[in-house]
Amino acid sequence: MDSNNRNDSGHTYDSGQRDHSGYRNDTGQPPQSEPQRQYYYMARLRAYVEEKGRELGRPLTASIQTFGCQMNARDSEKLAGILREAGYEQIDSEEADFVLYNTCTVRENANQKVYGRLGTLNHWKKDHPHMMIALCGCMMQEPEVVEKIRKSYRFVDILFGTHNIFKLAELMVSRIEAEDMIVDIWKDTDLVVEDLPNRRKYPFKSGINIMFGCNNFCSYCIVPYVRGRERSREPGDILNEIKRMAADGVTEVMLLGQNVNSYGKTLDTPMTFAALLREIEKIEGLKRIRFMTSHPKDLSDELIEVMGSSDKICKHLHLPLQSGSTRVLKEMNRRYTKEQYLDLVERIRAGVPDISLTTDIIVGFPGETEEDFLETMDVVRKVRYDSAFTFLYSKRTGTPAAAMPEQVPEQVAKERFDRLLKEVQEISREVTARHQGTVQKVLVEEINHQDASLVTGRLSHNTVVHLPGDSSMIGRIIEVKLTECRGFYYLGEPV
Ligand code: SAH
Ligand code: SF4
Ligand code: F3S
Repeated sequence: MDSNNRNDSGHTYDSGQRDHSGYRNDTGQPPQSEPQRQYYYMARLRAYVEEKGRELGRPLTASIQTFGCQMNARDSEKLAGILREAGYEQIDSEEADFVLYNTCTVRENANQKVYGRLGTLNHWKKDHPHMMIALCGCMMQEPEVVEKIRKSYRFVDILFGTHNIFKLAELMVSRIEAEDMIVDIWKDTDLVVEDLPNRRKYPFKSGINIMFGCNNFCSYCIVPYVRGRERSREPGDILNEIKRMAADGVTEVMLLGQNVNSYGKTLDTPMTFAALLREIEKIEGLKRIRFMTSHPKDLSDELIEVMGSSDKICKHLHLPLQSGSTRVLKEMNRRYTKEQYLDLVERIRAGVPDISLTTDIIVGFPGETEEDFLETMDVVRKVRYDSAFTFLYSKRTGTPAAAMPEQVPEQVAKERFDRLLKEVQEISREVTARHQGTVQKVLVEEINHQDASLVTGRLSHNTVVHLPGDSSMIGRIIEVKLTECRGFYYLGEPV
């Protein structure tokens, strides 16, 4: 899931709150309440951006580089909205006046990429002293990382974490006024700041947070430590945001949370995820609803029923397995058995015929034996996923699994990984081809990257389809005959 998160130009702008006059006050002091305080700082930052732009004889540019999951991609849209409000022109290239890395730390390799890119950026900054570099996201919630950057990457200007991204403008103003690196990392928060601007990557589809954080503490996973405790947004706030998006041309939403199936449990007036979906379904103009991620332990029959009877909820469910061995699942603290998972899959297939199932699997968890691994292979063969993200276990400092004895030797894990990948891909080819020759609805998303005479879109099942077309089709749902399956994607013809 580390792909598809690039943030680039061609965004749609949505200024969250309509009336921003609240940031002005007679004392010249920043307002204390949010979001007014941030609009005050965005205005101050804009004054700087305009002045600097006049000095340089060109507009100031900003570049956001996003690593990791959909959560980070969505956070980057919010950060882009703030920068746009402050007058920055957003560009892809890191040769910009302001560069922001929104980092991920779920596996060690995600981490390493950032240090490499920072090294390169240092050279650029030496020739452009007014440039600012900021780091935010999950890596910054790890004290060792912050220490390392403070010591060895002194040229970085601002560090902030996952809980205070709404403060970007305030932090940038502080940096402009101070001599030193600004570090503002919160351990956790129960604050959810609504009504800030954001800038969507696609005009017609958007992610939307329905909850933040995670309370599951799977023993290998660092996310609960870097994203804090689980908190759900109020249903009214979610519905209003989606209504605003729909009025602004959004036809597909992706509801985001680390475990959407436990949505609403801690609200003052508790509400189930299925009930929230029923409400979202009623929003006019909205055509497709997706969500991720579903934890198998919390997936209810009510949800299966809502999915089965809905025209808008997509025929796709991402249901992370992690391991097929009940013994390993217990060590992972996943709180379901192999049999419970398989039984759940059966119930989903019965309630939502023709649904696409995808998953995440970790290979080489501490203590995983060949026998355990074969249990995973067995589930893969039984479920027959449309696709699966496979990961080599990565030791994350501070998680219970990092301290477990019997870490699996790298060679053994790699060998299992290759076997699993081969199996997953073979099955995926066969399963994806099941729609060959049928006519399906495709939401056209973009011009094909390789061949400009083609456009690329997705089925409700999330399968990618390439077909002849042009930019006038982008954002539209059209009927397409799926003429040829090429492994993981289709070639099609509009009908
Ligand atoms: N909340 C989601 C997953 C978020 S992380 C869920 O529970 O499904 C995305 C995926 O990264 C996980 O599903 C898991 O397969 C993988 N992952 C998490 N920690 C990992 C680690 N330490 N090593 C390897 N893969 C890991
Ligand atoms: Fe990590 Fe588990 Fe939470 Fe997913 S549910 S984010 S894997 S702790
Ligand atoms: Fe990575 Fe943070 Fe997402 S660690 S996977 S960006 S929640």
